[in-house]
Amino acid sequence: MNNPLPSDAPSDTVSFSVEGRIAWVKFNRPEKRNCMSPTLNRRMMEVLDHLEFDERVGVLVLTGEGTSWSAGMDLKEYFREVEVQGLGAVRRAQRESYGWWRRLRWYQKPTIAMVNGWCFGGGYGPLFGCDLAYAAEEAQFGLSEINWGILPGGGATKVAVELMSMRDAMYHALTGEPIDGKTAAAWKLVNEAVPLARLKDRVTEVATILLKKNPVALKATKDAVRRVSEMTYENAEDYLVRAQEAANSFDADGRKEGIRQFIDEKSFKPGVGTYDVSRKG
Ligand code: COA
Repeated sequence: MNNPLPSDAPSDTVSFSVEGRIAWVKFNRPEKRNCMSPTLNRRMMEVLDHLEFDERVGVLVLTGEGTSWSAGMDLKEYFREVEVQGLGAVRRAQRESYGWWRRLRWYQKPTIAMVNGWCFGGGYGPLFGCDLAYAAEEAQFGLSEINWGILPGGGATKVAVELMSMRDAMYHALTGEPIDGKTAAAWKLVNEAVPLARLKDRVTEVATILLKKNPVALKATKDAVRRVSEMTYENAEDYLVRAQEAANSFDADGRKEGIRQFIDEKSFKPGVGTYDVSRKG
């Protein structure tokens, strides 16, 4: 089951393909370094909506066409042209961009940011929205807002503080100096950086690991990691009990099958591998 995609615009701001249960979704304004216009933001929400419950998709990868992942918000179409239309238009544009980033944070499928090039400012919203992030060593990341006279809004300051140490986040935000993929990995903005030539292979390897897991457990786990970060230990303990019990209502047999394959069948060891989710016992 998947939501139909409203008609494609002639030059689409978001492109996607599904290969081997991986949805490759691309920011597709390479000539504008994939900066996010209101048109792109609306289209991205439609594409995410279309793919979320598509049974052909197990993992979603967000990447960029050309030399950029995303050069952040479109200074012309998102800021200047919207501001002259008044506060209502500004709030709408914010809802549309923040909306798809939020959608990504709580997406049904695991998501991976594959940062192939420039990643600036507002780009940190979808970067954080993705569960995992892999960068090209050659990529450049920056909270460039200070360079054109604003604070890192649209959640970008929060993203920096969530992921980096306070000292690194402060330096990053105050100086606007770009950092490369290796430094982004050292500062924990991304999981790992590899040479651009190996990036797609590395992301495919990680996606392939995820594709072998129980999908109900993946969704419960990714939500749990985000939710518990804001809870006391007591609340987290309780949430995790309830979240697993809720997951059982979608997939009562998965963990029983996992136990069976290990204890009775001895066909795998959970410490070092995954049970075969395609078999139902
Ligand atoms: N908003 C609007 N337009 C942008 C843009 C943005 N964030 N980023 C790039 N563009 C446009 C440029 O204006 C240019 O348009 P033009 O061809 O009509 O002149 C085109 O994209 C190509 O950009 P250019 O600067 O020539 O590419 P580059 O490869 O030399 O440099 C960047 C790439 C990303 C370093 C540079 O474009 C840049 O600094 N962009 C702004 C990044 C930023 O501060 N984003 C934060 C916004 S919150």
